[in-house]
Amino acid sequence: MKKTILTGDRPTGRLHLGHYVGSLKNRVALQNDYETFILLADVQALTDNFETPEMLRDNIFQVALDYLAVGLDPEKCAFVIQSQIPQIAELTIFFMNLVSVSQVERNPTVKSEIMQKGFGETLPLGFFCYPVSQAADITAFGAHLVPVGADQAPMIELCRDIVLRFNRLYGGTLVLPEAMYAEFGRLPGTDGQAKMSKSIGNTISLSDDEKTVNGKVMSMFTDPNRLTGKEPGNVEGNPVFTYLDAFHGDKARVEEMKALYRAGGENEKGKPILGDVAVKRELAAALNEVLGPIRERRAEFEKSPDFVWDVLKSGTRRGLERAESVMEGARQAMKIGYF
Ligand code: TRP
Repeated sequence: MKKTILTGDRPTGRLHLGHYVGSLKNRVALQNDYETFILLADVQALTDNFETPEMLRDNIFQVALDYLAVGLDPEKCAFVIQSQIPQIAELTIFFMNLVSVSQVERNPTVKSEIMQKGFGETLPLGFFCYPVSQAADITAFGAHLVPVGADQAPMIELCRDIVLRFNRLYGGTLVLPEAMYAEFGRLPGTDGQAKMSKSIGNTISLSDDEKTVNGKVMSMFTDPNRLTGKEPGNVEGNPVFTYLDAFHGDKARVEEMKALYRAGGENEKGKPILGDVAVKRELAAALNEVLGPIRERRAEFEKSPDFVWDVLKSGTRRGLERAESVMEGARQAMKIGYF
């Protein structure tokens, strides 16, 4: 029997390079070895967008296109729409009893999101509780492994706490999941901030065309002390080099560029030996090489919306079957399987 993977994304827009590095790449690599469920977490997306539920339909479609474009195979992965799985909501309610308010308050991801979104006194309970609901997402499918970006670590920790508590208390058999973090960790935004995030506007989308990618790379943050390109430059903490590490196919060339950038200096014509523009050009080319085939596949699938919705429908059906069988076990453990 294959083990199970569950992971997901909030359908708040098209997916970006941060998603790719943090999780999508791992999902594609693992889809042959695991039974994979991928959640389009529309209920979670509502926790901070509840005023505009009508945006979910197109966002779900766009995210499904991104999945297909990066090479997730719908024969191997069930694409599941979260709102259509009532068992997740049911499990969330039971899990809420097993978590204290202060436990969620301490969660660093929730903490920073609450700050970033500036909720203040208007913080919705639904948003506050989404980590509990995410624990239900993972558990409802009996997931052994959760490939996620490093920012999700506190979510997986909370999920594990809840599962241990549930099993101890009720003698249940919920699967204790493990996180799998990407080899590369977290991709910074184009502005050098710690995280690529659509709400900050520092992303490069998987579906950006070549011109857009070139433009975004050219305006990327680099070493601010390098005014002429001749000064010795900083490679550490410089997002251009972080991206080169993540996306350039030729590691030796990246090391060579790092050495030249660190050294600085000018050539016989008085021009920088390795200026920032030259580095960015090479990065843009590397990105376009990775994104080219993804764009092409995306454009193909985009022509067949009915196919994409069929994939979502059959994936959701597979998800429902799994979630109901896990939920039956959970109800029995809690001795509330009355009939
Ligand atoms: N919170 C995740 C994100 O913002 C999305 C998500 C929802 C998720 N449910 C999940 C990730 C379950 C892993 C497992 O990216």
